[in-house]
Amino acid sequence: MRVAVLASGGGTNLQALLDACRGSAARIVLVASNVSDAPALERARTAGVPTALIEEPANGAALTELLQRHGAELVVLAGYLRLVPAETVAAFAERMINIHPALLPAFGGPGMYGRRVHEAVLRSGATVSGATVHLVDEAYDRGPILAQWPVPVQPGDSPERLAARVLRIEHQLLPAVVLAAARAGRVVRLVPAHAGFVTAEAPGALAAMLQVEGT
Ligand code: GRF
Repeated sequence: MRVAVLASGGGTNLQALLDACRGSAARIVLVASNVSDAPALERARTAGVPTALIEEPANGAALTELLQRHGAELVVLAGYLRLVPAETVAAFAERMINIHPALLPAFGGPGMYGRRVHEAVLRSGATVSGATVHLVDEAYDRGPILAQWPVPVQPGDSPERLAARVLRIEHQLLPAVVLAAARAGRVVRLVPAHAGFVTAEAPGALAAMLQVEGT
């Protein structure tokens, strides 16, 4: 499955995907960013993946054309901080996914990105946060959920500590969803393979704890 990744920042989720896709049914064919010096673009170049700058993020025709020109079959938003135009969402209906650093539908929506998400979680007094991968629709963080994994909030957590703990799970959850989609030939929903959630800190441990819904 040909995968295009859109990223605005550091690209650690992109890196996790690049590492996980090696030798798999998923191939990253394009990394595009709205930020010309985004480290994500450098990670792509290092991996030998074509890159592109999205000069007009609100221009749906141009973004759709870029993705189609590279033959994208799945589009992954990995820290992409712009709203994807409705035209592009429609062109990739059921084929565009996003990773969010909290348990949606809580702590999502406009303005809920980066540090702000974790600040809001801590302010709320929640004892559990987590990561969510969901299908993209025309609104921020709203499309159907494909996979989630919880992460404990610890006493005295700072937004940075919580973000780092959630990010470790993101780096497993996003590749798990992408590889499952590549194997199935379409986006699939992953559910816990066993009753109850287990904390998955060991690399690769999480994928083994998820299974395609209905299997
Ligand atoms: C991640 O927390 C992701 O969930 C959010 O933006 C952050 C991107 O981090 N959408 P990185 O650029 O992948 O390091």
